[in-house]
Amino acid sequence: MTDITQLAEGVGVYGPLVVGLLLTAGGGWAVWWIVRYLLADPMTRLSIRQAVRVRRGWKRLAPMLKLAATDKTPTALASLSNTDGKPIKPRVLIPALKVTHDAYGVIARATCLPGVGLEEFQKAAPHLANAWRCTRVAVTQDDPGQVVIRGVRLDPLKFKTEHRPTGLVPDEVARWNLGLDEYARPVSVDLTQVPGVTVAGLPGFGKTSLINCLMCDWAPSAAVQFAGADGKVKAAYEGDYADLVKRMFAFVGDDLEEANTLFHRLVALRRDRSSAIKAVLGVKSMWDVGPTEEWPLVVLIIDEAHTYFRDHKGSDPKTKKLAALAAENARLVEELVKMGRSVGILVVLATQKSTGDAIPTFIRDVCPVGLSFAQKTAEAAVAALGEEIRNWPDANPINLQDPAYVGVAAMNHQSQPGFTRIRTPYVPDACAADLAHATAHLTQDPAALLKAQLGRTQVVLRKDLDTTA
Ligand SMILES: Nc1ncnc2c1ncn2[C@@H]1O[C@H](COP(=O)(O)OP(=O)(O)O)[C@@H](O)[C@H]1O
Ligand SMILES: [Mg+2]
Repeated sequence: MTDITQLAEGVGVYGPLVVGLLLTAGGGWAVWWIVRYLLADPMTRLSIRQAVRVRRGWKRLAPMLKLAATDKTPTALASLSNTDGKPIKPRVLIPALKVTHDAYGVIARATCLPGVGLEEFQKAAPHLANAWRCTRVAVTQDDPGQVVIRGVRLDPLKFKTEHRPTGLVPDEVARWNLGLDEYARPVSVDLTQVPGVTVAGLPGFGKTSLINCLMCDWAPSAAVQFAGADGKVKAAYEGDYADLVKRMFAFVGDDLEEANTLFHRLVALRRDRSSAIKAVLGVKSMWDVGPTEEWPLVVLIIDEAHTYFRDHKGSDPKTKKLAALAAENARLVEELVKMGRSVGILVVLATQKSTGDAIPTFIRDVCPVGLSFAQKTAEAAVAALGEEIRNWPDANPINLQDPAYVGVAAMNHQSQPGFTRIRTPYVPDACAADLAHATAHLTQDPAALLKAQLGRTQVVLRKDLDTTA
C-alpha cells in the first residue's frame, strides 16, 4: 500500500517534469522538421510530403497488396488471458517501414516477414508505384531480412544535371563516376584492369561531354596522362578539346597519317612498358602497384573514331593509301586494347557512326565497357552495344531519341548482365577550361618518364653489379 502511495506521490512530483520534457523534445523535433522542410528545394519538399503519405498509408496498403503475414499462434501473454472460451484472434503482422526521401522520391526500408520477402515486394512494385504516385519502383535486398524500396516520383533520366569538378585528386584510382541511374542511384565504374571503353550515339547527344567529364575528374591526378585524337577537327585549338588539350601529352586531328604516327608511338610505349615492367615495377601488371606519377595510367581518347578506321573504297592511289592507313590504325588500336591493360593503357573510343567499321567489331568486342547515347535504329544499337541489347528492350538506346534524353546513355559492363541507363552530368565549358589551365603543369610524356626510370634502373643495376663484383 505504501508502495502505491509513494508511486502516486512520485507521479505527482515528476509527472509535470516528464510531460514538460516530452513536450520540449516533441517541440524541438517539430521545429527541426519544419526548418528542414523550409530549407529544402521545391523538388525535395514534394518528396518530404510524399514520404509522409507513404508512412501514413502503409498499415492499410500493406495487407491490400498481400504484404502482410498472419500469425495464428497466440503469444504467451495472449494464451494466458481470459477469452471466455472464444478462440484467440490471429495477429496480422505488417512489415515495419522506414521511409527517407531525396529530391527524386522516397527510399523505404521494409522488414521481411515469413512468406513476405524480396519476391513478394517485387511483385507488388507496380502497385506500390501506383499507390505512392511514383514513375518507377524498384525493390532490392542488401541485408537479409530487409528490402529497399526505391520509388522515384520524377524520372531522373529526364532531369539534366551539372557537374563542377572539384579539382582535387580523386580518392580512388581509375573510378569513373558516370552519373545517376533511373532510380537516381549514383553509377560508377571501376576502370582498373579495363583496357577499352566505347561510347556511341547520335551526334549532339553527349559523347564528347561524357569524355570531357571523365578528363576533368581525373586531370588533377599526376598518375594519369592523356593523349587525344579528334576526327572532327584539323587542329586542337578549333575543336571540343581546345582547352583540355593542355592536359594532353599528344593530340592529333583528322589526319590519318598523323593519327597513325600517334598510334605507332603508343604501341611502341606499350611494347617498351611490357619489356620494362618486371625490372621497373617488379610486378607483371601495373595494377598490382597502381599507376604512379612515374608510371601513369595512359588514357588514349579517340573521338569521332570512324575517321581513323572507316573503310575507304576506290582504286586510285590516294584512296588506297587511306585504306591502308585506316586498316593499320585499326590494327594498332586493337593491339593497344588487347595488350595494354597490364601495362596501364586505357583506350576510350567514341563515334556517332553506327556501322560495324566505325569502331571495328574486333575492337568493340574486347572493350569490357560500352556506352551508347541515343541511336536511330535497332541495328545501330546492336553495332554499339552488341547483340545482347536486343534482349533488353527497355534499355535500348533507340528509346532515347527524345531531346529530353540528351546526356542519357545505356551502358553494359561485361561483368554484369543487362544494361544500365545513366543520366550523365554536364560539365560547363568554363569549368573544364579552368581545370585544364590549373592542371596543365601535370602533363608529361609517359615515354619520357619510362626512359628516365629505365635510366635510373640501369644505374641501380650497374651499382648492384659494382657492389657484387
Ligand atoms: N550530359 C549532358 N547533360 C546536358 N546536356 C548535355 C549533356 N551532354 C551534352 N549536352 C548538350 O549537348 C551538346 C552536344 O554534346 P556533345 O557531347 O558535343 O555531343 P556529341 O559528342 O555526342 O556529338 C552539348 O554542347 C550540350 O549542350
Ligand atoms: Mg562529339
